[in-house]
Parts: sequence; structure tokens; C-alpha cells
Amino acid sequence: MRKPLIAGNWKMNKTNREAVALIGELAKVVKDAACDVVVCPVSICLSDVLKAAAGTNIKVGGQNMYHKDSGAYTGEVSPVMLKELGAEYVILGHSERRQYFKETDGDINLKTKAAMAHGLKPIVCVGETLEEREAGTTYKVIEEQLSGSLNELDPSKLELLVIAYEPVWAIGTGKTATSQDANEVIGFIRKKLAEILGAKAAEETRILYGGSVKGSNATELMNMPEIDGALVGGASLDAVEFGSIVNY
Ligand code: PGA
Repeated sequence: MRKPLIAGNWKMNKTNREAVALIGELAKVVKDAACDVVVCPVSICLSDVLKAAAGTNIKVGGQNMYHKDSGAYTGEVSPVMLKELGAEYVILGHSERRQYFKETDGDINLKTKAAMAHGLKPIVCVGETLEEREAGTTYKVIEEQLSGSLNELDPSKLELLVIAYEPVWAIGTGKTATSQDANEVIGFIRKKLAEILGAKAAEETRILYGGSVKGSNATELMNMPEIDGALVGGASLDAVEFGSIVNY
């Protein structure tokens, strides 16, 4: 049985003070959630956000990390650092990382392996652009992203893995994939996971949908059999709106 997971990706929003205040508001509205609730603030806010979230049902994750434990990698944070603070999750390969920071499937593969080796739960993002969708290559693109990012994972750590299907054209645009479309692509992802990681992992891995999820469409998306949760951007910055997604 896959436990639903709703994760908020705050992206480059909220100062430390604002982030801590948001946790205070969120704690009240998500306290009775039936799903796992995760927020991913910017890395410099993680320490205070984790303190603010202590004793609540809110789990915390990073938005990115480098795959090395430490070293001369200016500006990066490591899995060891995330883990020591108490972060449980880390978003990897978000389309904004792929697009603006030129991350490749190979980079995401290294990061995914490193996160799992340190007991972090990677939320590995895949999804097609509008051009790729219109060219009819959605499935091919996703297949490549999955096989490139999930290469040679440690079989004993697969229960940590989370996948997010985020069609790039639906992120921050107000356009949501129809729940049927999202369900179909996520069903395809599960089939590919079975080929790459085996049937058991495919059955147990949570696969989220992301792209303009809000309170008004969360229930319909969450009712689809293949969709195990949501990765929420814009709507996660408002406690009431995020609360209405979490309590779908
Ligand atoms: P959005 O972002 O909910 O603002 O569309 C989703 C994401 O990028 O994870």
C-alpha cells in the first residue's frame, strides 16, 4: 500500500523569517492529514524550518544537492549536510534545474545514488516540454529520463525512492494535465520502473504528479489510481491553499 505524499516545493521563495512563519501556519492546517506532508525550503532556511517543524507532522526536504559528501564545490550542499540537519527528502532533477542549470540525467543519477546511500528519500523529477509533447515524444523522453536517472540504484535502498511526473508545460502556467493524462503517463512510468528496478519496486514506489496543482484540482488528481501524491510549487506558498491540497 503506497502512502500518499504531498510535497511543497517552495523554490527560491520565502526568507528565513517568512519560512519559519509559514511552518507555524501550516502546522495548524495540516495536522490531521492522512498523507505524508513535506515542505522543501531553500537550503539556508532548512535549519530553522526543521526546528519550527519539530513535533509536527511536517517533514522537510532539500530542493537539490550535490552528489559528493564534502569538498571544493563552491555553492553546493551535500547529502551528509542535509541528513545531519534532519532533512528526510530531497528533490532531484527538477525541470528548472535541468533547464536553467543544465543538469543531465547522468548528474541526476549520481545525486539519486548519493541521496539513497545517505538514507535520504530522493524525489526524482521527470517530464516532457511542450515541444516534446506536441512532437508526440512524451513517452520516449520520459523513458530516457528514467533509464538515465535510475541507473544502477542500490536494490536494498529502493524503498526510499519517490518519482514526480511534472510536465514542464504545466509548471507555474496554470495549465494542469488532465487527471486522465497524468494517470496514463504515471502508469507508463510504473511500467518502466518495473523494467528498470523490478516489479516489487514498481508496485511500491510512490509516483507524484506536479504542475499547477491547487486545492480545486487536488481531489480529482488524487482519486486517480496511479497518482500517489503531488509536488506543489506556487500553491505550497500559501498555508490555506496548501492545506486544502493536503486535506484533499
Ligand atoms: P507549480 O510548480 O505547482 O507552481 O506548477 C510545480 C513544481 O515545479 O514542482
